Amino acid sequence: MIKMNSGNHSKHLEFTQVGIEFPTPKGPFCALKDVNLKIEKGEFISLIGHSGCGKSTVLNIVAGLYQATNGGVLLDNKEVNQPGPERAVVFQNHSLLPWLTAYQNIELAVKQVFKGKMSKAQMKEWINHNLALVHMTHAADKRPDEISGGMKQRVGIARALAMQPKVLLMDEPFGALDALTRAHLQDSLMQIHADLGNTVIMITHDVDEAVLLSDRIVMMTNGPSATVGEVLSVDLARPRDRLALADQPEYNHYRHQVLKFLYEKQRKIEPVSTQHKKTNPKGKNQVA
Ligand SMILES: Nc1ncnc2c1ncn2[C@@H]1O[C@H](COP(=O)(O)OP(=O)(O)OP(=O)(O)O)[C@@H](O)[C@H]1O
Ligand SMILES: [Mg+2]
Repeated sequence: MIKMNSGNHSKHLEFTQVGIEFPTPKGPFCALKDVNLKIEKGEFISLIGHSGCGKSTVLNIVAGLYQATNGGVLLDNKEVNQPGPERAVVFQNHSLLPWLTAYQNIELAVKQVFKGKMSKAQMKEWINHNLALVHMTHAADKRPDEISGGMKQRVGIARALAMQPKVLLMDEPFGALDALTRAHLQDSLMQIHADLGNTVIMITHDVDEAVLLSDRIVMMTNGPSATVGEVLSVDLARPRDRLALADQPEYNHYRHQVLKFLYEKQRKIEPVSTQHKKTNPKGKNQVA
């Protein structure tokens, strides 16, 4: 059985003066400027900030999908400049191949990473192990259109984990799910992170989710030229229990710190058109 690296807290992901400019018809647009951050092995980091501030851009740079125009990112002292299986991405929209079953979707990724390193039997065992991690064994032979949104998301997470990435990158992984499914998947993710100890960077709009899951919450300023505004260390003991935490003053203190950053320090003026919306689709405590 393959095991993820765990423990051993050395700095392993380092952003230095990261900046990016996108060419636009009106000239270059500076989305990020002077982003500096050091992340330790096994840390769970949440990225939070208002819509359009540059969170996905940060993730895309770590994923190697975008190239920084200034500075750069080092993973274990190696410069990140292209995508690689040691940095797996889970997108909000599942991104499973619709013609393949859950099993086959994971198999495709596993073959890409472990071809020649694992026998067929080992691969099968590994894929089944990862399906079991996200409680999807029963639906291994179902295609994406035969399973729910939450189940698709679990397959996406299993696929990413099956690649044994050093870093798991998640862009609003639970944003499109109902509250109960989201809570269930958050608990699964906490359990998986506790078991495997891999480094996670997760973008979220949900303040409670950020506090519940994170070791540190990286709060970004509004763009253009967005950067790291504040970094909040969440020193709550693990394993964390959402119900028990709800009554803890420390938990509420952390929530308050994030809300204060977002709604006082980085207050965003909403365009007039959004004031006509009857409901806020993102719900309370979520960032616009
Ligand atoms: N390929 C691109 N070309 C030009 N501009 C871009 C490109 N990608 C992102 N941007 C701009 O960079 C800024 C940051 O975008 P990004 O998608 O990173 O925001 P975000 O924080 O992830 O927002 P959201 O919370 O809405 O997903 C935005 O102003 C966006 O329009
Ligand atoms: Mg985004």
